[in-house]
Amino acid sequence: MKRIFVLCLIIMTAHLGAQELISGEAALGTQEYDRFEKPESCYSCHVDIYMQWRQAMMSQSYTHHWDEIEYFDLAVAHAEKVPELKGPVDGCNGCHAPLSYLAGDVTPPRPEAGSRANEGVSCDLCHTVTAINTDDDYPYNFSYVVEPGRVKYGTKEGLVSPHHVTKKLDIYGQAEFCGNCHNEKNPFGVWVKSTQIEWSEGPYAEQGVPCHQCHMPKALGRNAKMAQEDMVAQHLFNGAHDPGKVGGAIEIRMHPLEREIEYDGTVELKIQLFNGKAGHKIPTGSVEDRILWLHVTATDADGKEYHLPVDSKGFDGEEYTIASDELAYIDMGLPKGIDNFKGVPRDGVPVGDRIFRMPYLDPDGVMTIQQWNTAKLGVDYRIGPRETKIETYTWDLPDDIPEGIVTFKAVLNFQKLVKPVADFLGVPEDESEIMIVNTAETWVEIYE
Ligand code: HEC
Ligand code: HEC
Ligand code: HEC
Ligand code: HEC
Ligand code: HEC
Repeated sequence: MKRIFVLCLIIMTAHLGAQELISGEAALGTQEYDRFEKPESCYSCHVDIYMQWRQAMMSQSYTHHWDEIEYFDLAVAHAEKVPELKGPVDGCNGCHAPLSYLAGDVTPPRPEAGSRANEGVSCDLCHTVTAINTDDDYPYNFSYVVEPGRVKYGTKEGLVSPHHVTKKLDIYGQAEFCGNCHNEKNPFGVWVKSTQIEWSEGPYAEQGVPCHQCHMPKALGRNAKMAQEDMVAQHLFNGAHDPGKVGGAIEIRMHPLEREIEYDGTVELKIQLFNGKAGHKIPTGSVEDRILWLHVTATDADGKEYHLPVDSKGFDGEEYTIASDELAYIDMGLPKGIDNFKGVPRDGVPVGDRIFRMPYLDPDGVMTIQQWNTAKLGVDYRIGPRETKIETYTWDLPDDIPEGIVTFKAVLNFQKLVKPVADFLGVPEDESEIMIVNTAETWVEIYE
């Protein structure tokens, strides 16, 4: 894979000839806002695509409430206290408000000011990328090279437009194009975002299924008002903010090892969790924020409900994958200006539930949601593409269990942002609402 990618890089950059490739931090302040067209000018012809993009997170990467809170109340506030962080925190905009970064307008005005930062990841930013320029095996940290102007690049050959010149460039069909922003290395050299890397190591890369097939699926339509009908890449970019995308992403099934059990016996349940729908690990991307957890209950013949904690497997770092009520996120105290901040509960989900996650650890080894302050990653207990994990639940029946059927229910839940953090920072509810990924049921019969 690495070989192929290096080869692509050479081909990709070849057309630029001797021209210098400017990307990443070096691109700060190298452009002007006026060189980029506004999305509304594309709307006049690309109506459908524009409206899809408007609805996607891509157009809200700067204005979305949680982005504004994390950027201004934590990241910018942190950099005011720790000046070395200014560069990396300005760098947030390389992906979230690329035009501002390129124009050197950092820190950009707040969203309410209505500046061009609000365009987020805009049409003209993506469609004037001409190369990927990375010093690593993978693209990362806004490693795109952009040449705004008359030429708009895409995956199709020879299209004619009254407004611009069109040109085909192979990178537009490749996952590496997305990796420019969906891989991120922080000031500690830690990969705090690695969606494209996860993809490249999984089965979908091997089978030639890039991000586009799931996030920009092709359908019959017109890519511009005046165009012929053709298969058109839908600009959906739907991910964790779409309950339909998250729903069913992992399938779960469960069974007991024995169906009939004596009243003083023990039930043993196995649960399989299969990532059949995502091309990367789940959770991916903003892994520091997300929480995916399995909640299992039993209901006896009298209707009494019991909560079943997961059996421990005993691997290193497992404590981060079993819900507890300990406190974490203490490093928010500095940007928030709270002395001796004790933190907030780490998980906010029922104690004993299995959590599928990879903890981000601050320089003191405490869990953090501040990806820029992440010195180390903990155990990676996420579910990889087409991977199946098995969890076991051993339950000694309570003394007073009645005869009859006991039903078991497993619910796999997802939150985009850990609830205690969302509440502490005043992030609107929709960011921490519980999304149900999947459920499963089974039963045993208890006899005297
Ligand atoms: C006046 C109408 C018009 C405007 C305005 C316009 N386009 Fe187009 N664009 C077209 C037409 C027509 C095509 C060709 C469609 C076809 O034949 O399938 C096209 C094709 C494209 C393609 C496909 C290129 C390829 O080779 O795959 C891209 C990308 C594109 N436009 C981007 C943009 C962007 C970005 C903007 C705004 C900055 C924009 N367009 C504004 C009419 C327009
Ligand atoms: C995150 C980057 C990104 C953004 C933002 C984006 N596009 Fe695209 N666009 C792409 C990629 C990648 C393709 C090629 C998809 C493929 O062929 O699989 C594409 C394809 C297209 C095409 C050709 C579609 C086809 O299949 O014929 C048009 C037209 C287009 N984009 C216009 C726009 C317009 C207009 C906007 C803003 C409203 C926009 N794009 C926003 C990345 C982007
Ligand atoms: C210029 C940087 C950039 C490029 C290139 C880019 N993205 Fe993104 N993408 C972002 C940012 C920033 C967000 C986060 C928006 C937000 O703040 O929630 C995002 C969000 C998304 C989401 C929504 C995630 C969610 O939480 O709902 C999906 C899906 C996605 N991108 C897929 C892609 C794909 C597929 C490509 C390549 C075709 C791509 N992106 C290229 C910057 C980029
Ligand atoms: C086989 C289909 C498939 C492929 C290929 C795929 N994804 Fe996804 N992606 C999904 C599904 C399903 C989800 C929803 C589950 C989730 O949130 O993880 C998702 C979620 C996401 C999210 C949101 C994650 C979060 O928690 O915010 C991002 C961002 C994303 N994908 C980007 C990408 C990028 C970039 C690539 C290519 C490197 C890619 N995806 C390849 C299916 C796919
Ligand atoms: C290399 C590109 C890149 C950089 C640099 C970057 N981000 Fe992001 N950010 C993304 C992408 C892509 C996503 C979407 C991932 C996903 O959906 O899981 C994202 C997601 C987020 C989210 C979650 C959005 C949501 O709605 O759930 C927040 C908040 C955020 N970023 C803030 C920041 C801050 C603050 C910084 C700077 C310290 C920063 N980002 C730096 C690319 C970047």
